[in-house]
Amino acid sequence: MDRIRIVGGERLNGIIPISGAKNAALPLMIASLLTEETLTLHNVPRLADVTLLSRILGNHGIDVTVVGKKAGQRKSDGQTFKLTAAQIVDTTAPYDMVARMRASFWVLAPLLARCGVAKVSLPGGCAIGTRPVDLHFDALKALGATIDLEGGYVLASAPKGLSGARVELAKVSVGATHNALMAAVLARGETLIANAAREPEVMDLANCLSEMGAKIEGIGTATLQVQGVDALHAAEHAVLPDRIETGTYAMAVAMTGGEVFLEGARFDLLEEALVLLRKAGVEIEETPTGLRVARNGGGLEPVTVETQPFPGFPTDLQAQLIALMCKACGTSTIRETIFENRFMHVQELARLGARIDLKGDTAFVTGVEGLTGAQVMATDLRASVSLVIAGLAAQGETLIGRVYHLDRGFERIEDKLRRCGAQIDRLSS
Ligand code: UD1
Repeated sequence: MDRIRIVGGERLNGIIPISGAKNAALPLMIASLLTEETLTLHNVPRLADVTLLSRILGNHGIDVTVVGKKAGQRKSDGQTFKLTAAQIVDTTAPYDMVARMRASFWVLAPLLARCGVAKVSLPGGCAIGTRPVDLHFDALKALGATIDLEGGYVLASAPKGLSGARVELAKVSVGATHNALMAAVLARGETLIANAAREPEVMDLANCLSEMGAKIEGIGTATLQVQGVDALHAAEHAVLPDRIETGTYAMAVAMTGGEVFLEGARFDLLEEALVLLRKAGVEIEETPTGLRVARNGGGLEPVTVETQPFPGFPTDLQAQLIALMCKACGTSTIRETIFENRFMHVQELARLGARIDLKGDTAFVTGVEGLTGAQVMATDLRASVSLVIAGLAAQGETLIGRVYHLDRGFERIEDKLRRCGAQIDRLSS
């Protein structure tokens, strides 16, 4: 199993290109199930999750082609995918696939909307909590689907098609909003999705569906109004930049000191977190082509924050913020309100010398003089990257195990950091 080795203490200076957002690319790829015609996606990141989803979609009969590089394209430019679901040959998403990537559960709605039937494995729990799917069921049932559970599978059917209805999501859920939206675009009549997630990735999906011929109003708000259409058609869409990757690298620079240009990053996708970083003492300048982030390496101001659905502080940056606040002059209070049990990184950060007191859903992080390298273990995607940024700032060597978590969501992370002066490499075994 591969490990990442970091020798900390180097400042980061240079340019980091921001990749397309994983959390947008995945539902966009799944949306290709909704039409017989070709969906062309640009700026698709090179990630293990994207590769796995291509295989899953291939099982359903989607033809996935990765377009070769054009003259003048750089290594950092995203890929172009052409996805064609001319015929859906299998409406089953098996356990061994869905268990490896939760987001593949979202094939449920488009398969149901297009074929009237779907059999999708329940995704099961994961390292950050139980993660139920009841809201997905509520939404599909409201649109007229029958849902049964059998042998760990969801059997969904709507032989006469789905019908528009009012879908009131009891809790803000990104995945349930994706599923409700993908079901509603081909349902008969009008659907109103209330308490919809407003995450930029939901907007990206809604915009792409509109380009495919869907009729959606209220994009970017908590109320989405959808007028169902008979069929969707071909479209071309570019995946929006990854705001979590943006925030992660901004925090890495804040931690090590230095100056980095985050090429392609957008301030508006991450305003709450970037304003918080500014308050803590990080310089962030918005430019038309990206964000300039700088820090002199001195102590930061501690922060008090809780994770919230968009536009609040994202749960996917909570682990990185905890790592960063180990450099603050004082105690920060960081509360996790989205996922229970999303603190697996705390005990690993403690191995590097962090002082973190965990009480229920809140971490009290007291800044320390310095972190020291150690051997640690990645537990999930965002937790693993918090160990990377802590390792970059720690004195000495940090060895991170189970790095396959990182490969799911961070494109060429060692390469991007190494080009900015970090001593980081991958040890294959
Ligand atoms: C997506 C993101 C993930 C991010 C999360 C919250 C992707 C691939 N993943 O995950 O990176 O951390 O949004 O921003 O885009 N819930 C229920 N019942 C449900 C569904 C969700 O109770 O049926 C709860 C969850 O347990 C959680 C909360 O709702 O407490 C939000 O989860 P949700 O937004 O659905 O997360 P995902 O879409 O799985």
